[in-house]
Amino acid sequence: MLISEGGTLGEWKSPLDSNPDPWPLVRRVFHEQSREAERACRKSIQTNEMGRTALLLLGLVVCARHSEGLSLLDAGTAAGLTLLLEQCRVRFHKPDGSALADYGTADSPVCINCRVPGVSAGLFGLRRPSGFLDVPPLLGRLGFDRRPVDLADPQEVLWQVAQVWPGDARRRARLIRAVDQWRSSGASLPPRGDATTKDLLDLAQKIPRGDIVVSHLCLSTSGSASLRKEHAFKNRLSELAQERRTFEISVELVDKQFRFEVLDWAAPKTPRILLSGRCHPHGTYVQVESTTMDAAS
Ligand SMILES: C[S@@+](CC[C@H](N)C(=O)[O-])C[C@H]1O[C@@H](n2cnc3c(N)ncnc32)[C@H](O)[C@@H]1O
Repeated sequence: MLISEGGTLGEWKSPLDSNPDPWPLVRRVFHEQSREAERACRKSIQTNEMGRTALLLLGLVVCARHSEGLSLLDAGTAAGLTLLLEQCRVRFHKPDGSALADYGTADSPVCINCRVPGVSAGLFGLRRPSGFLDVPPLLGRLGFDRRPVDLADPQEVLWQVAQVWPGDARRRARLIRAVDQWRSSGASLPPRGDATTKDLLDLAQKIPRGDIVVSHLCLSTSGSASLRKEHAFKNRLSELAQERRTFEISVELVDKQFRFEVLDWAAPKTPRILLSGRCHPHGTYVQVESTTMDAAS
């Protein structure tokens, strides 16, 4: 409906947010604009969720403790919005709302809050809570996707926005601001590539400096086909780890639960878990369950 309603994004307001009975609108769109509706129904779900930037950042903080310099390779990056992490404002906080660690650009229009119960400032390498995170700059970064999302195309932008759940006006507004940020940063369409194939190794070579962190934020869904693919993906990671020091940041659905894991592939066949826990798929919280680092509050 967002696609067929059109309009400029800055002014746009979801009819599902403001209208208590959306059915007249749904019927109208399906009857009067059936071609557009049919086209929209054929599109695949491919979100780019800014909240996951907090999970990516936390993973990078953990990897940085084990490395002299990191580069980031984001598999399944969609449009690559989460790659612009320094331009966001990320705030990790306790369940009572008090600040633990802050990161990014103080006056950024893209604000991300992540609750981290049971975690101390020590996990972030800070002596006291409420400090500013000093994460070493990335030596290189690249995102790729099986089907990259081109934010230069206004229809693709509308599709991105349309995938935010109705009623979630704050998330939608944040996404629109992130798209503006992406445009003004001069970022371009991420390259095409499949994380389960040799593409992963070829694309890693495009970022020659530093240890490599392969991140995948909600790349796969559950089911046997994706498990087979996950096996192929892990094999590619193991191959990469034989060439180069490799870390992995994973946010995926496992047994009906979203899991957050940071792994060190120093031993390419048996990666070591540096941190693992449950998380919200939109990065609103991480419940750390095990870590090799100082994390307890
Ligand atoms: C749910 S979206 C998440 C996008 C982004 N990582 C984020 O966190 O917002 C999953 C993305 O993974 C991509 N994808 C799925 N399987 C892939 C594969 N084998 N190789 C590369 N990209 C893949 C999809 O095209 C889609 O853009």
